[in-house]
Amino acid sequence: MRLDVFTLVPHAFAWLTEQRPIAGVLGGELELRLFNYRDTSPLRAGQVDDEPYGGGAGMVLRVDVVAAALEAAYEGQPDHRVIALTPQGRPLTQAVVEELAEEETLTLLSSRFEGFDERIVQHLASDAISIGPYVLSNGELPAMVLLDAIARRLPGALAEGSAEIESFSAELEGRREYPQYTRPPDFRGWTVPDVLLSGDHARIDAWRREHVR
Ligand SMILES: C[S@@+](CC[C@H](N)C(=O)[O-])C[C@H]1O[C@@H](n2cnc3c(N)ncnc32)[C@H](O)[C@@H]1O
Repeated sequence: MRLDVFTLVPHAFAWLTEQRPIAGVLGGELELRLFNYRDTSPLRAGQVDDEPYGGGAGMVLRVDVVAAALEAAYEGQPDHRVIALTPQGRPLTQAVVEELAEEETLTLLSSRFEGFDERIVQHLASDAISIGPYVLSNGELPAMVLLDAIARRLPGALAEGSAEIESFSAELEGRREYPQYTRPPDFRGWTVPDVLLSGDHARIDAWRREHVR
């Protein structure tokens, strides 16, 4: 998959790209490209935003700036999905992640300030996605959330089997995973359920199925 992220702070992604699972698939199953809106802004001094029509606080990301960034990257309108990250978008769920992980190419548009000029969402993006019903200061964290959630679904990102049975998976019928424990078996009197220490895989499996949340 190729994932292109448009942002005002490309360096914000450095930490994430050094971590597994993204580090493990970069250059293989995942090609990540970072574009700075300022580099292709048609305005003077790399201006990217402007005051909202109708007044009000804050600045709005300009449509001509985003259009220029997309033109420069794709020499025209992209022929793949372009996702605007915005609190007004479709809520992100594991089902949406699975759907997006099937794409060969994706573009993520992040914003800051008061958000996008609505014409970006209507005419330049194909999708709008919200990572949750709360407002963050900028779109870099939402882009990283989506990037991580997609990257861990790519072949080779995780150890064999570790993503098949987990919260929201089909294997658990979309429910949340059962409790997990590790050593020590007794810490301050907080004990691990006996069945998990029994070595009886049929009983362990049954216990886990009962404790899916
Ligand atoms: C401060 S927010 C803009 C909030 C906007 N004025 C509103 O009231 O909905 C700036 C940018 O951060 C990103 N952002 C913030 N919260 C988000 C969320 N829950 N989901 C996706 N993107 C978000 C978006 O790119 C957004 O345009």
